[in-house]
Amino acid sequence: MSTRHDDDEFMDVSEVVKLGIPSKVVSVFEREGITRFNPPQKMALDSGLLDGKNMVVACPTASGKTIIAELAIVNMVLNLKKKAVYIVPLKALGSEKYKEFREKYEGMGVKVALSMGGHDSKEKWLAEYDVIIVTCEKLDSLIRHGIDWVRDIGLVVCDEIHLLNDVSRGPTLEVTITRLRDLTQFQILGLSATINNSDELSGWLGASLVKSDYRPVELAVGAYYDCKMYFKGETQEVGKMSDSLLALIEHIVASGKQAIVFVNSRPSAESQAEWAGTVTKKYSKGMDKVSSSVLSAVGQPTKQCRRLARIVSDGAAFHHAGLAPKQKDIVEENFKNGKIKVICATPTLAAGVNLPAAYVVVRDLSRYMGGYGMRPIPVLEFQQMAGRAGRPKYDDKGVALACAKSEYDVERVMDEYVNAECEKIFSKLSLEPVLRSHILSLIATGHVYSDRQLMDFMEKTFYAFQYNDLFELERNVSKVVDMLGDYKLVEWSEEGDISSPSLFQSANSYHAVRKMRATVLGRRVAELYVDPVTAWLFVHAIRKCASMRVSEIGLLHLVCSALEMRPRLRVGKGDYEWIYEEAEKVSGRLIVPDFARADEDVFLSAFKTASALDAWIDERSEDFLMDRFRMSPGELRAKLDNCDWLLYAVSEIAFICGSEGLRGVIDELRVRLKYGVRAELRELVRIRGIGRVKARALFKIGVSDLTSVREVGFSELVRAVGQKSAEALKKKVGDDVTKLKAQRRFR
Ligand SMILES: Nc1ncnc2c1ncn2[C@@H]1O[C@H](COP(=O)(O)OP(=O)(O)OP(=O)(O)O)[C@@H](O)[C@H]1O
Ligand SMILES: [Mg+2]
Repeated sequence: MSTRHDDDEFMDVSEVVKLGIPSKVVSVFEREGITRFNPPQKMALDSGLLDGKNMVVACPTASGKTIIAELAIVNMVLNLKKKAVYIVPLKALGSEKYKEFREKYEGMGVKVALSMGGHDSKEKWLAEYDVIIVTCEKLDSLIRHGIDWVRDIGLVVCDEIHLLNDVSRGPTLEVTITRLRDLTQFQILGLSATINNSDELSGWLGASLVKSDYRPVELAVGAYYDCKMYFKGETQEVGKMSDSLLALIEHIVASGKQAIVFVNSRPSAESQAEWAGTVTKKYSKGMDKVSSSVLSAVGQPTKQCRRLARIVSDGAAFHHAGLAPKQKDIVEENFKNGKIKVICATPTLAAGVNLPAAYVVVRDLSRYMGGYGMRPIPVLEFQQMAGRAGRPKYDDKGVALACAKSEYDVERVMDEYVNAECEKIFSKLSLEPVLRSHILSLIATGHVYSDRQLMDFMEKTFYAFQYNDLFELERNVSKVVDMLGDYKLVEWSEEGDISSPSLFQSANSYHAVRKMRATVLGRRVAELYVDPVTAWLFVHAIRKCASMRVSEIGLLHLVCSALEMRPRLRVGKGDYEWIYEEAEKVSGRLIVPDFARADEDVFLSAFKTASALDAWIDERSEDFLMDRFRMSPGELRAKLDNCDWLLYAVSEIAFICGSEGLRGVIDELRVRLKYGVRAELRELVRIRGIGRVKARALFKIGVSDLTSVREVGFSELVRAVGQKSAEALKKKVGDDVTKLKAQRRFR
């Protein structure tokens, strides 16, 4: 993939000063080594980027799409004094952009904010900021809470806008963009990979299309099999070894380059990294410090952490969602500085990040996809992974290789991936599960009041633009609206506008004059960002709680039964017996309503997930969770976050249902989950700097809260939690620490 471009397709960066961009911005670019704008960047400027024109930029990976966004942002913030919202597909990418934008633009008074987690807040503080980086879910949640600064938005950048194609997240992006466009006027800038129907995307957004094949760093894409690299019209051998992939890694690392190897599962990432380490260790030295930082990144290192630390000391690493965020940072950081030579990763590493991999090897071209078994990955996904190779600033050439399974398979891989065109992207909005949450939200915020208005809204979506046939969408919308009514989340009055009859007119035509609004419960559910089906589950369980003593396992099993906890822990053959046995023992304490027990698979996987969390609050180690439940530290963190949010939702819904009594139990459980402790330690972990290990040590010497710190001697305290924590505790209760320390020395 290399194309020639003439000089006149480039533009000196200083020329943008004439277009109104301050020269200090130009200096920032120059400091970064950007002296001239490349062809897509120039095209964007020529097409009215700084005149507020909507634009879709569909260009190859590494073509510098972010600079186009930055130009539009500084123009909007500094010249037009309006806010820019930057939508990212992944939190990791959000953090990368946040760091970058702050370093580059904060000095000139551009205030940058990152707003990612938490789904029940207006985040009033954001009103003070100029550039707001969000995920589409967060933006959706902010709109549901009725942000006051919506009219201050002048620009919305949507990075990796081909995410519209994603089954679970695409519809949220689509609805959020449509909704925001209804609420206020702004310039929209969509940054996309080279997809086959970018014209459709720009058509929907009323945007000019900037399409280019420019890639600053040549990227050679090919297939790989049996120690041979196959490129168009050329084959290259790498040194022979019995393991062909290791031979390739040796070839790459021996030439002083680095590689990312993409595989399709976490266990594969770990074992492949272990293998890679056997090669990289010859080429890397002095990794002790990095290796021990991997261990100290978490409170109590688990087997997985130790394995990563071992592999890192050999100069390789694995990277997947099971790692703690700090460990991911360490791996990325040390890959950037060249110490780690090879990363074996799952595809989550692929979206938009800049890493210095001269080589990308896509080992697996198929992936396990839920009920469909192993399926070939889309070309778009392959290209996103391949695009991590050969990034500007790091390399002058990139190589991406797709692994074939046999000599015969090489041709297929060349046809279906290497030389294949990307698929089209399609709106996934008509899928019912995603529709119901958005429809409730549109009604709850008063965005629409009638069926007619709801369909008017739907007509503005990418779905409507693309399919031009609303029949299926209309049918699903109608089904969802009825369901929301059955769930008591939406109600109707008859004072609707008779002149705009419903699209859903039934035979008896009652609906013709209905005007809809959300119930109090419906409004809260929309704000809480839970699925209406989950809310319905919670309402029933809350009613059941009125007549029983509520237990931790009951609540944990309830939230683990919610759709939002997917993917739950997988139930293997060896699990059935113990799950049935344990579930039987606590069956009187389970609060999920009967209708939620009907699906055996859901029940069992929810019980297994709940049991793992129950073990966590019983102070079991993370190693135990891995051995017994196959729950990795990263997964534990993700589940704890979700669980906390859902428990909060249960307590808020309980409040509306008049069951305030549940709040106390839930609050206590949330604290215990946060720290992983039994009930008796809940006061101790509230003290800053005291985690589950130190709290347990304190409890053993008779300390159960802050007041009881006074009653134990300083030396005993030091023995239990170490000098620093002991001093902090004594200081907290007002003791004279200097005196205590002197007394201790004297003894
Ligand atoms: N005109 C330029 N001259 C030199 N370097 C540039 C120029 N524009 C961008 N770059 C550099 O190119 C690198 C890649 O840019 P960027 O991350 O914006 O790519 P991208 O198009 O968003 O790719 P992806 O699709 O992978 O997200 C960055 O390090 C950036 O600093
Ligand atoms: Mg990008």
